[in-house]
Amino acid sequence: MRIGPYEISPPLVVAPMAGVTDRPFRSACRRLGAGLAVSEMVSADPRLRDTAKSRRRSDHTGEAGPIVAQIAGADPQWLADAARHNVALGAQLIDINMGCPAKKVCNVAAGSALLRDEPLVGRILEAVVAAVDVPVTLKIRTGWDRASRNAVQVARIAEQAGIQALTVHGRTRADGFSGEAEYETIARVKGAVRIPVIANGDIIDPEGARAVLQATGADALMIGRGAFGRPWLFREIAHFLATGGRLPAPDAREWSAIVLAHLDDIHAFHGEYDGVRLARKHIGWYVHGMPGGEVLREQVNQATGIDAQRAAVQAWCALLQAREPGDVRAAAPASRPVYNNHSMSAGGDRTRPEEIHR
Ligand SMILES: Cc1cc2nc3c(=O)[nH]c(=O)nc-3n(C[C@H](O)[C@H](O)[C@H](O)COP(=O)(O)O)c2cc1C
Repeated sequence: MRIGPYEISPPLVVAPMAGVTDRPFRSACRRLGAGLAVSEMVSADPRLRDTAKSRRRSDHTGEAGPIVAQIAGADPQWLADAARHNVALGAQLIDINMGCPAKKVCNVAAGSALLRDEPLVGRILEAVVAAVDVPVTLKIRTGWDRASRNAVQVARIAEQAGIQALTVHGRTRADGFSGEAEYETIARVKGAVRIPVIANGDIIDPEGARAVLQATGADALMIGRGAFGRPWLFREIAHFLATGGRLPAPDAREWSAIVLAHLDDIHAFHGEYDGVRLARKHIGWYVHGMPGGEVLREQVNQATGIDAQRAAVQAWCALLQAREPGDVRAAAPASRPVYNNHSMSAGGDRTRPEEIHR
């Protein structure tokens, strides 16, 4: 897949996820096979621009390009300004969020609520495309609700406005995260426009990835929750799509190196207070379903400092390597965390709804 001057290879994109896809997680996914990683959304509201959260979300220091910033809002001028601001901070692609169902975003008629107002969609996209020299992409759901699936119409508006790639999450706004994603609408979108289409929703393994590509004809796939605690899913999917074969999951040694590097990165990026808290959900996801994982989860949840948390993870990794030299995931049941809207039960997720929109 090509977006402007950028060849996205492999065509596997890390989904923007507020409270999850910070720079450490994006970097882990890129190192382990993702071709592109979208940053957590930042509000286009200029009053929120200088919050610590917005600044951290816009910090791309040392990140592998192309760097993608996602902006959310409903005012064309604010979004145009936000796009310029993020390009000045290093973004090489700007993604506009019209897919988020979070209440706070929709209440101010941003996120997926915009799908109800097609003329406004057109004005926003034209304003942002005109504001920056970098490619602008768009992320949508299939519509507001099942009775008004207008993704094809919005895709045409997007193409007309100069949007250079379109991601479609196969659910309506009303669906939230319930039920299963459907891919027929994504296939119809693909058939209606010439810009690259990225299919998203419920892709959690290599076979599923291939099935979604076949069902939609999409140019690329975007993966979110399936990569929780499994940033190597991207290389597994890339390998499967290229060869039809299954790549073995990381062995205990590699698993330990990945988890410890990610943990160190979280601590360095977020600092002690936020870092220790944020690491809890990631470690919870990493050990989800692994024998004895709940013991480590308990320890990292109780730890209040970097040293204690790291020591717990390191000790657990040493035990794991002594006990399980082979395939870590083979020892774990083939289950994944339970997701309920934006809150995930596994790993003691601490993402509060009000954190989502910034
Ligand atoms: C915790 C969480 C935060 C999310 N935050 C955003 C966001 O900031 N911007 C956005 O466009 N979508 C956001 N989403 C939606 C995802 O990008 C993606 O479209 C959705 O999770 C479906 O893909 P999946 O089934 O692969 O997870 C979020 C989803 C989750 C679970």
